[in-house]
Amino acid sequence: MSLDQNLNKILIIDFGSQFTQLIARRIRELGVFCEIASHKKIKHSNINATIKGIILSGGPLNVYEINKYSFDKKILEKNIPILGICFGHQILSKLKGGKVKQSKDREFGLANLYKKRNSLLTKDFFNQSKFKKVWMSHADQVTKLPKDFKVIASSKNSKFSIVENKLKNFFGVQFHPEVTHTENGKKIISNFIFLICKIQKNWSSKDQKFQLIKEIKDQVGSNRVICALSGGVDSSVVAQLLNKAIGRKLYCIFVNTGLLRKNEEIQVVKTFKKRLKMNLIYVNAEQEFFKKLKNVSDPEKKRKIIGNLFIKIFERYSKKIKDVKFLAQGTLYPDLIESKSVTGSQTSKIKSHHNVGGLPKKMKLKLVEPLKYLFKDEVRKLGLELNLNKEIISRHPFPGPGLAIRMPGIITKEKIKILKEADDYYIKGLREHGLYDKIWQAYAALLPVKTVGVMGDNRTYEYLCLLRAITSEDGMTADFYEFKKSFMQTISNKIVNSIRGINRVVYDITSKPPSTIELE
Ligand code: XMP
Repeated sequence: MSLDQNLNKILIIDFGSQFTQLIARRIRELGVFCEIASHKKIKHSNINATIKGIILSGGPLNVYEINKYSFDKKILEKNIPILGICFGHQILSKLKGGKVKQSKDREFGLANLYKKRNSLLTKDFFNQSKFKKVWMSHADQVTKLPKDFKVIASSKNSKFSIVENKLKNFFGVQFHPEVTHTENGKKIISNFIFLICKIQKNWSSKDQKFQLIKEIKDQVGSNRVICALSGGVDSSVVAQLLNKAIGRKLYCIFVNTGLLRKNEEIQVVKTFKKRLKMNLIYVNAEQEFFKKLKNVSDPEKKRKIIGNLFIKIFERYSKKIKDVKFLAQGTLYPDLIESKSVTGSQTSKIKSHHNVGGLPKKMKLKLVEPLKYLFKDEVRKLGLELNLNKEIISRHPFPGPGLAIRMPGIITKEKIKILKEADDYYIKGLREHGLYDKIWQAYAALLPVKTVGVMGDNRTYEYLCLLRAITSEDGMTADFYEFKKSFMQTISNKIVNSIRGINRVVYDITSKPPSTIELE
């Protein structure tokens, strides 16, 4: 495999831990670039001069199941500082001649860690305290240290909780310094990268901005690039980076599906065409989408129709631009890791909405993916650095199929209009009450149910509006947000009183799982 970036870096060798990405996040938060590579793919010949330190991640494996991993031992002879975490600690100890066994007392959760010796790795970690609380998650443990290794700290059940070989700059920790439950855990990572690996800070939004613009220029030269702009964070940042790098050679295509939030198309044109002076092609495809979706109520059919039509329209317009060589996409680092180093496949996953997937091959386009080394929060910081307004940067995620999957049953123009209004009142209410940024995602949906109500002295028979608001880390799991009664009352009144077509509001209190965030 090749490590693509020329920057000095810390290399994380991944053994499949659920925390591997978290290690990378911590290092980048400290202002240092790092890359993750699967233990199966990285060989000693890949270890070049840009790698200033190596972290061996945790993982579900057992050091004695040697047929399940294929780590190149010669990496340990490269004279580069190494920090093993959990399984990484165990495999480092085993390969250097120590012993690892299943522990009698497995440790999951918090444990007290006591200092035994001074070490650069734990400088300012214990401070004045007798012990630190650390997060353990292991069934096996090191039972005999390799030659030249010393104990730095121990817990009750794990004598070799922190070990070092000072001569070689090898370190092992049985606990997880990368998780927030470990008190002062970031200090361990910071000591390893700055004091032991002696790497300089090289990763900030400003550095990234200039470097990414330069890389785009180098990659595309004077060729034309197309980009599907949705107005969401990722595609907006990609478009603005390319705009800064190549200006009018970038052609952004924005498709108004008619299923967007209220006035979204007006805002996108105002921001990107008028304020940022982008080469924006606005396509009003509302009629086409409504026509294709007529009488369709099956969720999967809706998704397929929308996805396929989106690609068709995007293709139609991009063909009008002559001599296009590249397609820009907002692939992020988690997508890349998921598909590349861990699963071993080489193709990067393409996001659902911008799923112009078949296009690169069909039109012989090459991909430009400037965000492929970034995490979502880094993309947000970069966006601010690129002069995108905070409103775009902090926007809640919005699904590609848009309001169609927030309207179970048949989609009509009239119902979409009602839903756009309800959603707008709700989101404005969240902003006015300072709640918007506390919530990961919120939206209104229109259910295909009519119920009876009374307004004035008249009977009404109208739709049911569902409100959803969730807290989440990454959208994989979610919990509902607990509003105050007064806020819910205000919003419910506002929606029912102002919108003809809705006479009842309900709040979704399911978590994910067992529910999902969207309704369809
Ligand atoms: P679910 O409903 O699966 O949603 O719990 C998880 C997150 O993904 C978003 N989502 C989508 N995003 N295209 C997208 O770009 C889609 O087809 C799509 N479906 C769901 C959803 O809004 C939530 O943030």
